[in-house]
Amino acid sequence: MIKKGIILAGGKGTRMSPLTKAVNKQLLPIYDKPLIFYPLSILMLANIREILIIVNEGQLDQYKKILPSGDNLGLKITYKEQSSPRGLPDAFLLGEKFINKSNVALILGDNFFYGQNLTKNLINCSKLKNGAKILLHKVPKPEIFGVAKVDKKNKITQIKEKPKKFLSDQAITGIYFFDKDVVKYAKQLKPSNRGELEIVDLLNKYKKKNKLSADFIGRGGAWLDTGSMEDYYKTTAFVSAIENRQGLKIACLEEIAFNKKWIKKKHINNAIKFYGNCDYSKYLRKLI
Ligand code: TTP
Repeated sequence: MIKKGIILAGGKGTRMSPLTKAVNKQLLPIYDKPLIFYPLSILMLANIREILIIVNEGQLDQYKKILPSGDNLGLKITYKEQSSPRGLPDAFLLGEKFINKSNVALILGDNFFYGQNLTKNLINCSKLKNGAKILLHKVPKPEIFGVAKVDKKNKITQIKEKPKKFLSDQAITGIYFFDKDVVKYAKQLKPSNRGELEIVDLLNKYKKKNKLSADFIGRGGAWLDTGSMEDYYKTTAFVSAIENRQGLKIACLEEIAFNKKWIKKKHINNAIKFYGNCDYSKYLRKLI
């Protein structure tokens, strides 16, 4: 059972400069809430309540303004600063103390997930005891993603970053579930040619031991990486369309916590006071 999760919310955000010069990408809005709410909501839907958020050095105060301690969400949120973007597996080096020999999930701060079977997928993945599990999603242009080839038992037989020759159209999304060996394996990694520790190298350690498996988001689900300007606006348009059509919010953190009975009405009232007079607060008021 995975009870701990890490959100990687640092990074340079080069592709979205100048927007990201003064403000971290994960604090920019996706429609009506900061981007960081979306990956956080995904960990919550996986019933993960102990959360480490990794942020860039010097940006901690900004994050703490919007997500102070987690008390009002029934979560335990702690932070760690990363001095430079050394690669995704750095999360497990920075997070060693937080992980403390437990199994752990990692989600990238700029990844957006939505879909009918998603909660079931997430709960299923969080039951992981041994090995590692990744979530795959079919994409039309696999050559721009990390992709995985899977056998009949959903065991991964091959993974490759941005394959020039077709290998599979199943892209590796930005959520990963690992057993406690992840820290040990992350320590064995060497930086790649681009000077970063690579998540594919870490996954390969599990694959070599035949311990890497997959789950699928399926065609009813959406996965969007909000890292480029174009994808960022597509995600905003997607959230706006769904929320306005259904009258339900995506990634309303208090709603998730309230439905899971992690918080009470009084916490929702606190949140309404905290956010002030806005549509998000009006939505919260309707919940109680
Ligand atoms: P990337 O999209 O690889 O990097 P980025 O967000 O800095 O964007 P760009 O390529 O435009 O410069 O990172 C994916 C996510 O992981 C993103 O949310 C930032 C985060 N990240 C870290 O927090 N630390 C790291 O060392 C890396 C590599 C990424």
